[in-house]
Amino acid sequence: MIKELLLGKRIGETIKINGWVRTFRNNQFIALNDGSTISNIQLVIDFKEYEDTILKRINPGTAIYAEGQLVESLGKGQKVEIKVAKLVILGDSDPEKYPLQPKRHSLEFLREIAHLRFRTNTFGAIFRVRNSLSFAIHKFFNDNGFVYMHTPIITASDAEGAGEMFKVTTLDLDDVPKTENGHADYRQDFFEQATNLTVSGQLEAELGAMAFSKVYTFGPTFRAENSNTSRHLAEFWMIEPEIAFADITDDMNLAEDLLKYVIKYTLDNNLEDLEFLQQRLIQEEKQKPQNQRSEQALIEKLEFVLNNDFERLSYTEAINILMRSKPNKKKKFKYIIDKWGADLQSEHERYLVEKHFKKPVILTDYPKDIKAFYMKVNDDNNTVRAMDILFPGIGEIVGGSQREENLEMLLKRMEEMDVPAEEMQWYLDTRRYGSAEHAGFGLGFERLVLFVTGMSNIRDVIPFPRYPGSAKF
Ligand code: 4AD
Ligand code: MG
Repeated sequence: MIKELLLGKRIGETIKINGWVRTFRNNQFIALNDGSTISNIQLVIDFKEYEDTILKRINPGTAIYAEGQLVESLGKGQKVEIKVAKLVILGDSDPEKYPLQPKRHSLEFLREIAHLRFRTNTFGAIFRVRNSLSFAIHKFFNDNGFVYMHTPIITASDAEGAGEMFKVTTLDLDDVPKTENGHADYRQDFFEQATNLTVSGQLEAELGAMAFSKVYTFGPTFRAENSNTSRHLAEFWMIEPEIAFADITDDMNLAEDLLKYVIKYTLDNNLEDLEFLQQRLIQEEKQKPQNQRSEQALIEKLEFVLNNDFERLSYTEAINILMRSKPNKKKKFKYIIDKWGADLQSEHERYLVEKHFKKPVILTDYPKDIKAFYMKVNDDNNTVRAMDILFPGIGEIVGGSQREENLEMLLKRMEEMDVPAEEMQWYLDTRRYGSAEHAGFGLGFERLVLFVTGMSNIRDVIPFPRYPGSAKF
């Protein structure tokens, strides 16, 4: 592949190569890309050897096969090039119709042609980084003795309460069978009960942790929230580790270690792509006023995260900082913080991270009323052992907690929060038989990719984004 050839170790050898034409200059120089690297390889052809009709078919997007010697390049801009002896056109690309012209296209335009955008430098870089992050996540857990667990996509439990769910049904929507009370009769549905796409694999991961001690999931999750933001998708990938014999501090340490490990992995393995994305960001930010530009370049920002401890503080401390903050006093926040107990909005999270601490922040011990039923209640009986990690430019990237392992306490919380215990006996069994302290978290994969690539819209870091009003491709 081109990535390997560009290392220059095979000079003098006859090379066979496939790829797509990026540009063709002077009827002589083809810039060829095969997706293995952001760099193209230059193919040099002797145009006297080819019919005009062949030369005219070498266009941006054309797929070709070539053979020839790899030689040191005389020209500027590349170390090596291929002196082509044989050229075969595999697939034409009509230059009048091909939507990707060799010029700068807007991200919005490229979103409309997401099926082709992988072929641009920007999206090539993003999806190679996404691939590396994905591999690094598996490597981190595998190296640390975690069992990878596949949790179900279709679920009957709606107990998580993490967000609105998509229904899964084979009932005829034009003629839904009804119960005596006029509700849809799911007993006649495929699973003989109501089912949804999962919002999280956590509850099942907890079951796994109670046998394997350390597990993680890495799969798609679905939320039908109508949030049309640059941070939300209706279908996103989540990593959910769950560790037994562990408390909230172990949980925070694990999350911080994982994030640092995967960021370092991309710096070690994707530097070329990151350098390209860094330049892209600098160009993009030139259009913004000085005070809205990033203080650090992309790579510097990633290194900063690696080299600094995340700031850890309680929700209560954060509320005090926010209440005293300038934007709160001057009513610059959309949601003014006036009392303990308020749910933090992304404007507050970003203030803490970007203005106050200027580094990643872990908030702990949230009010129990704004968090899920399974979180362990603190001795104050007011707060729970939740922990959220907030990242610069992103806001919440991780949400996790120590779990309530005591059966009586958990049943009490379920009752308070209207979670039906009868349907959750399988979950409660872990608290009946050999219950133990345990904790876990969910890392939003696309939010991680956003952070590492420096992109600003989550729709640009997943190949085919799903969001309200769009399930194209
Ligand atoms: O904070 P959340 O809702 O936590 C859970 O689902 C827990 N069950 C996790 C656990 O403890 N095992 O979601 C976890 C993370 C968020 O911090 C965010 O990064 C991401 O998932 N996330 C989204 N990413 C993209 N689009 C959405 N709509 C998201 N909702 C959550
Ligand atoms: Mg959350």
